[in-house]
Amino acid sequence: MLIKSISLINFRNHNSYHLECKPDTTLILGENGCGKTSVLEAIYILTRGKSFRATDQDILKRGSDFYRIELEYDNGEKIIATYDGDKKTFKTPDKKSTRLSTKNKYPIILFLPSDLNLTSGPPSRRRDYFDRIFSDFNNDYASVLNKYNKALRQRNELLKSDNLDRSALFPWDLLLADYGSELIKYRTDYISEINQTLNQTYHSIAENNDRINLSYITTIPKINKDIFLKKLDQNYEKDHILGYTTFGAQRDTMDFIFNQKPAANSASRGETRSIILALKFVEANIIIDKLGKKPIILLDDVFSELDDTRRRCLVDNFKNHQVIITSVEDVEY
Ligand SMILES: Nc1ncnc2c1ncn2[C@@H]1O[C@H](COP(=O)(O)OP(=O)(O)OP(=O)(O)O)[C@@H](O)[C@H]1O
Ligand SMILES: [Mg+2]
Repeated sequence: MLIKSISLINFRNHNSYHLECKPDTTLILGENGCGKTSVLEAIYILTRGKSFRATDQDILKRGSDFYRIELEYDNGEKIIATYDGDKKTFKTPDKKSTRLSTKNKYPIILFLPSDLNLTSGPPSRRRDYFDRIFSDFNNDYASVLNKYNKALRQRNELLKSDNLDRSALFPWDLLLADYGSELIKYRTDYISEINQTLNQTYHSIAENNDRINLSYITTIPKINKDIFLKKLDQNYEKDHILGYTTFGAQRDTMDFIFNQKPAANSASRGETRSIILALKFVEANIIIDKLGKKPIILLDDVFSELDDTRRRCLVDNFKNHQVIITSVEDVEY
């Protein structure tokens, strides 16, 4: 499916905005702060269910008491989201709901300038990134992750209480072991799936002999619920003193390895850009394979960060997709 148009009311700095999208490439051009990324954000909410950068309260135009965004697909289907300062509602052809159902979601490949720093920084940055991507691969992943995080929050709440009864933790430990093992299984499979084509895709951008792969280090190498439970129990004293759970899937790390070393310390800026481009191409192919749908590509201001060769690569790779680009300067696509 293709996006035909998008309209915003009281969304960030926009009072009222309408954009007709082309089936191939649409360029949103404008100076800094004019509201370009906000348009991509609205598209993302209406295709994926929530913003990639903020809460509805942050998004609601200052001084307004509601926002309304509407997306029309080329088959005439409309998705409308309204937020009244308290609750967001999605109106789709079949129903009204506070969540966008899987059926009404559409795959997106989002490319933000901050993605170009993905190889470096704290592990949480990559964990959050891959959690989002894996949720796009499979809705089940999002649901397991959600349940895991809820159980983790409850357990951490209990750990902070002064007169903690140790046995009160057990139901949460069971849930963490259950959902945690499932998460780790998914992560192992998906990282391995990405690795199957990441290196070869990288070489289609950078013609050399460098090797790139993702490494996944989990706290529980052998996925086993009993070991998970035992480890939670063993860490009890430490967790109680610190007031949070120190063991589990929330501590997993995913790192880019460039020529056998962490890319953060070994890949140059240009090489890092090629790695991230390759990752986006691999993501798109996996989504096509898994969902049988061609993702829509949202490129937020990334052209200015790329040289001619990498721009060409990006254009060539996504030439059969609908692409929506924001930029401060005119770009040739
Ligand atoms: N809730 C809000 N109400 C009103 N204005 C807001 C709100 N949230 C953000 N803004 C403003 O909206 C404007 C648009 O932000 P956006 O990130 O979409 O701009 P942009 O065109 O992508 O800018 P840049 O080129 O710098 O990336 C900014 O000036 C921002 O300060
Ligand atoms: Mg922007």
